[in-house]
Amino acid sequence: MTEQMQVADTTVTDTSATHTAAPQAAADVKTKAVPTLPDAAKVTEVKHWNDRLFSFKVERPQTLRFRSGEFVMIGLMNDPDPKTGKQKPLLRAYSIASPSWDEELEFYSIKVQDGPLTSRLQHIQPGDEIILRPKPVGTLVVDALLPGKRLWMFATGTGIAPFASLMREPEVYEKFEEVILMHTCREVSELEYGRQLVEHIKSDEILSEIEDGKLRYYPTTTREAFHHKGRVTDNLASGKVFEDLGIPPLCPENDRGMVCGNLAFNKDIMKILDGFGLREGANSEPKEYVVEKAFVD
Ligand SMILES: Cc1cc2nc3c(=O)[nH]c(=O)nc-3n(C[C@H](O)[C@H](O)[C@H](O)COP(=O)(O)OP(=O)(O)OC[C@H]3O[C@@H](n4cnc5c(N)ncnc54)[C@H](O)[C@@H]3O)c2cc1C
Ligand SMILES: NC(=O)c1ccc[n+]([C@@H]2O[C@H](COP(=O)([O-])OP(=O)(O)OC[C@H]3O[C@@H](n4cnc5c(N)ncnc54)[C@H](OP(=O)(O)O)[C@@H]3O)[C@@H](O)[C@H]2O)c1
Repeated sequence: MTEQMQVADTTVTDTSATHTAAPQAAADVKTKAVPTLPDAAKVTEVKHWNDRLFSFKVERPQTLRFRSGEFVMIGLMNDPDPKTGKQKPLLRAYSIASPSWDEELEFYSIKVQDGPLTSRLQHIQPGDEIILRPKPVGTLVVDALLPGKRLWMFATGTGIAPFASLMREPEVYEKFEEVILMHTCREVSELEYGRQLVEHIKSDEILSEIEDGKLRYYPTTTREAFHHKGRVTDNLASGKVFEDLGIPPLCPENDRGMVCGNLAFNKDIMKILDGFGLREGANSEPKEYVVEKAFVD
């Protein structure tokens, strides 16, 4: 049982011990489980991809609206303060990996063994609750880009999460003629979440109609044998990805980019995109590409 469940359990009064002695009204109050988590969302599904990665789904609060590509703060209650006994929420930023139309919310997560949140979050089970702060924000949204022909999604590691959402968003395929996902990880097993998602989009009756053959997938590894190798940055700078996909190099007239990876990757790819003449935009000032960190180093 997770700590989350233990927290919830402690608030549910055991009526078998109280109902004979206490007046009925008091017993009624005591039998009600007091909600213990602020902004609680119930976990419906958990999938472990390897010893470093897992994904999970939670029930979507009816009032939560977001744009595909945005992130929210999620977490668990921290351990009680030894002095006061009070518990505070332990929250981290997470990209919503499911599209804006989905009834559930999906997240794709790292497991940092000594990470304050994910050392515990990795043990959640269906039926547990997490905290979900209902204020989605972020720059990886279609509105932050000028119209173009080709949308590139550049991701390393868990940076694929916002693109898992956008890849299922009809607006993306309405606005772009071609959508290319470049995802790079160290090892093959780290690509599996993205590989299965692309396969699902291409085979699902509704999603394949939305995608309409426009989605192209370019996964690579850097530290294990695979049919395509190399960093996203190197494959762009050398022109290999354009040769492999049979398309012209990036140009500011046609190409739009979204970047999500570690800080060093983000910095390096921005230089490359700038070199192709693309400019960084934002919600308030749409341009040719947008960037978001996949985590804080
Ligand atoms: C805008 C934004 C969106 C994010 N979206 C996601 C997401 O969708 N999925 C996700 O797993 N994380 C995401 N993160 C990272 C997340 O907020 C936490 O850092 C992560 O869950 C680990 O939390 P922690 O408390 O266990 O460890 P922390 O104390 O937060 O991190 C400890 C260390 O672990 C490493 N680390 C943290 N996160 C990652 C990661 N995702 N990949 C590789 N190394 C990492 C870093 O070196 C970090 O210094 C996002 C971060 C930001 C800023
Ligand atoms: N993935 C693992 O197997 C593993 C295992 C144990 C611990 N960790 C630790 O966990 C943390 C995160 O690891 P991670 O693998 O999820 O993420 P990561 O280190 O950000 O690597 C993910 C991918 O991004 C590439 N990359 C890194 N910096 C880049 C840059 N400046 N430009 C272009 N591409 C770049 C990496 O290529 P390169 O391989 O060429 O760097 C790798 O293919 C690291 O601190 C790591 O030491 C990872």
